[in-house]
Parts: sequence; structure tokens; C-alpha cells
Amino acid sequence: MKLKIMFATIAMAAALASQGEVLPAPQTTGGKPMMQMMSERKSQRDIDPSQPVTKQDLSNILWAAWGITHEGKHTVATAMNRQELVLYVITATEVSRYNPEAHTLTVVNKGDFRAAAGMQDFAQTAPLNIVLAVDTSKQDRLDFQAYTAGAASQNIYLYCAQAGLKSVLRASFDYEALSGALKLPHGERILFVQSIGH
Ligand SMILES: Cc1cc2nc3c(=O)[nH]c(=O)nc-3n(C[C@H](O)[C@H](O)[C@H](O)COP(=O)(O)O)c2cc1C
Repeated sequence: MKLKIMFATIAMAAALASQGEVLPAPQTTGGKPMMQMMSERKSQRDIDPSQPVTKQDLSNILWAAWGITHEGKHTVATAMNRQELVLYVITATEVSRYNPEAHTLTVVNKGDFRAAAGMQDFAQTAPLNIVLAVDTSKQDRLDFQAYTAGAASQNIYLYCAQAGLKSVLRASFDYEALSGALKLPHGERILFVQSIGH
């Protein structure tokens, strides 16, 4: 019996480990009124490289962009419920992939890959870059893919306005360098990168 419990515990730990780093629970209530957030949304590029983004803010940003809300669906609508969005997180120490169901991050590349996050200086030093990619096997229509990534980006912008963070969506990046840093699986396509910080 004791052995059974031990194996079950090991199996559970292995399952959790395979889901990656567990993020703090997202804060899904409260905050500024929506109309105020919309009026405060803007692109800001003077991001301070020395001020990190907290794990709680990262958790809230990822949830706002692509978290699960209702019946296995997301904060963002997707055409025919294809749920094609894939988010990657680039920090000074690693590149991770977001698992919305478990609200966890799986490291896909260890090291500082911010130089691949964009051509503009601030992108290469920002403490956080979120890559908005899509799984083209789930949705092959470019207009629908762009809608999904755009809606997720707007949610990030609004959360940043709410949290007093700076943010800017970018289409300027070296596709080859960035897909290498992400170890982008076949069939995924990068659309935008959003730089975030203080
Ligand atoms: C699809 C898209 C791509 C963009 N690409 C870049 C970019 O590569 N670099 C950048 O600094 N800003 C980029 N921006 C930000 C725009 O320049 C910015 O949204 C615009 O100037 C309006 O300013 P606002 O966001 O403060 O309203 C992009 C915005 C969008 C919607």
C-alpha cells in the first residue's frame, strides 16, 4: 500500500513537472474600470531594462491574452472555436511556451534570446517579450489568425494600462532568428511580438 502511494506521488510530480512552471493564480476580478483602461491604452517604447516584471503581472498578462474563461474557451474569441493561438514568453533567462489549460510555462530554450525578439533596441533589453504565434494546422486563414493575435494583443495592452506597465506590439523582428530562439515547431507561424516592462 505504502509503495502504491509512493508511486502515485512520483507519477503526480512527474505529470506536474511535464506541465512546467506553475504561475501564480491570475487576478481575474477588480482593477480599473474598462472605459478608463481603454482611454489609457497606448504604445510605449521607453521600457526600463533594469525593472523586472513580477510573476503575478506575467500570470495576469498571459491570462488576459489567452487564459481559459468558460467551457474550455479563452479570453479571446476564435473563428469556429479553432483556438489557434500559441504564446511564447521571452525573458532575460529563458524562452517558454504558455499552457493555458494548466496556466503553466514550459521552458523551450535556456538563455538570453532577447536579441532575437526584435530589431528595435528596447525590444532587445525589455524584461519581457510575448510572442504571438498561431498553430496553422488549427486555422489556415490568415485573416482569422490575425484577428486572434490582434485581440490577444489588445487584451495585453489593456492589462498593461490597468497595471501601469508599458507595452508595444511589434511586427518588426527577424523571423528566422526568432523562430530559432523559440525552436518553433513545424506548422506554427509567428505574427507579432509585444514588448512589456516599466
Ligand atoms: C500590427 C502592428 C504592428 C506594429 N509594429 C510595430 C513595430 O514593429 N515597432 C513599433 O515600435 N511599433 C509597432 N506598432 C505600434 C504602432 O506604431 C502604434 O500602435 C501606433 O503608432 C499607434 O500608437 P498607439 O498604440 O499608442 O495608439 C505596431 C502596431 C500594430 C497594430
